[in-house]
Amino acid sequence: MSQRFSTDILVIGGGAAGLSAALHLAEHARVTVLSKGGMESSSSHWAQGGVAAVTDPEDSLQSHVEDTLTAGAGLCDRDVVEFTVAQAPGAIAQLTQWGVAFDQDHNEYHLTREGGHSYRRILHVADATGRAINDRLTEQVLDHPNIELFDDRVAIDLINLSKLGRYPNRCAGAYVLNRSTGHVEVFQARFVVLATGGASKVYLYTTNPDSSTGDGIAMAWRAGCRVANMEFNQFHPTCLFHPHAKSFLISEAVRGEGGVLCLPSGERFMDRFDSRLELAPRDIVARAIDHEIKRLGIDCVYLDITHRPRSFIESHFPTIASRCGDLGIDIASEPIPVVPAAHYTCGGVLVDANGASDVPGLYAIGEVSCTGLHGANRLASNSLLECLVFGKATAAHIYARLGESMPPASIPQWDETQVTDSDEEVIIAHNWEELRRFMWDYVGIVRTDKRLQRAQRRIDLLKQETHEYYSHYRVSNDLIELRNLIHVAELIVRSALARQESRGLHYNLDHPARSTRHEDTILFPGSVDRLDVLQPAIS
Ligand code: FAD
Ligand code: SIN
Repeated sequence: MSQRFSTDILVIGGGAAGLSAALHLAEHARVTVLSKGGMESSSSHWAQGGVAAVTDPEDSLQSHVEDTLTAGAGLCDRDVVEFTVAQAPGAIAQLTQWGVAFDQDHNEYHLTREGGHSYRRILHVADATGRAINDRLTEQVLDHPNIELFDDRVAIDLINLSKLGRYPNRCAGAYVLNRSTGHVEVFQARFVVLATGGASKVYLYTTNPDSSTGDGIAMAWRAGCRVANMEFNQFHPTCLFHPHAKSFLISEAVRGEGGVLCLPSGERFMDRFDSRLELAPRDIVARAIDHEIKRLGIDCVYLDITHRPRSFIESHFPTIASRCGDLGIDIASEPIPVVPAAHYTCGGVLVDANGASDVPGLYAIGEVSCTGLHGANRLASNSLLECLVFGKATAAHIYARLGESMPPASIPQWDETQVTDSDEEVIIAHNWEELRRFMWDYVGIVRTDKRLQRAQRRIDLLKQETHEYYSHYRVSNDLIELRNLIHVAELIVRSALARQESRGLHYNLDHPARSTRHEDTILFPGSVDRLDVLQPAIS
């Protein structure tokens, strides 16, 4: 039997963004948090390097701002960057209050360095910072009397009252699949906060957990929100290359502590690409590795930290050393085989400085959103920071509106009268695989117009086939995710085709130069079949 739930604020997503927003909101209202699985179903849980924040008196907010703008290649919104960087020390204090114990050295924070940063300014908990943050936030959430946490729930679609007829344009909840019972439930809410993370699972190789299927971006798009800058997909340069290592990252902090990239011959190569060598921004390092792998026809390159003492390596990188050790790689005595992999979605649901989307009552925070902080390329360790800063800003904005009256609406149950049980699950598995492979081959680190058009034609076919399937059969977790991934893939390809230049993470061999015009790619709902619009960036 399908159930109905009612709450003040529905937060969809249990990563750093969703949990921190929930904690701020629960001081004033009843909050319900949904997540697809346990805590491991979030990228936040797997974050390694840390959180960027200026805490060293030698460093400055200005320098953090400039590094973020430089990485963003002309498309960051300067106001948003300045706001986020200024809030960072406060976010660290809040995390500390919630129980996160960042590593210290002589009573000062121990700071690491990552690509694109001019100073050591990354606070961390060894090489498992995200896990420490998510564990502490989860404990706080579970202890809070105003928060209810539901695992094993997959939001299918947002409820926009205007689509129910005679109501205003307003988000009032979501239809959600309960994975344990197989029933679709209604979660009705006065405000909805999307915190569903990114979409890197659209690529065959990724550092992300299985949950990163772009659900929030696809749901918001279908609910009537604009989506921006989807062509900027960040590939992390160093994902472990091993047949039994699914999605395991080798943190950029390894390069920050002196790790060097080598070819199988032992030759270093980053000097041929950038004077900042291994600590150049990610787009440059990932492209350099991709170039060398293709040029030499090799499977991977190597990251070598063996010049550091074993004791240093094991205390700074215990998680990496242990995971590699399990696979027979002793990182203190041999180089680590690595390849680039899809890591972060810079674009997303277009929101303002309060996290508010185009649909009243609907907010988006964290990786699902496009705030203007990252522009064309995210600076390392600015993502967890964005989750925390916008989690708080959004909570404050919603809090100020809690007194507003809402239209009374009767929301219908999910209609299953026209569907039956699926008879050919193989279509879902096959289409998943096909989509992720051609996105990797045609819409990856190096693009061409022809490759993008080829991908678009395949998306059209998969979209039609999956839509037909969705209309006839009962929803399942995999079907929901496949449908979302196809929508996200289409948004990525349309955005990439619209950008006739190379900038930041978007590199197209047919348009290798950077344009003098700084424009965001903004897709309007309903516009996918007509020409997409480039709009001047705010910076
Ligand atoms: P997530 O943490 O991904 O959480 C998303 C949540 O939404 C999950 O609970 C998921 O189950 C839920 N969800 C998704 N879809 C649905 C749905 N349909 N219904 C219900 N629930 C749903 N960034 C840094 O700043 N520093 C780092 O050191 C760092 N290291 C990283 C290392 C790795 C391996 C990875 C993958 C990323 C790393 N990043 C890092 C990036 C950063 O971790 C993420 O961008 C950030 O954690 C995203 O947080 P989030 O809360 O927006 O989403
Ligand atoms: C890493 O530790 O290399 C990931 C940092 C990030 O993605 O910000």
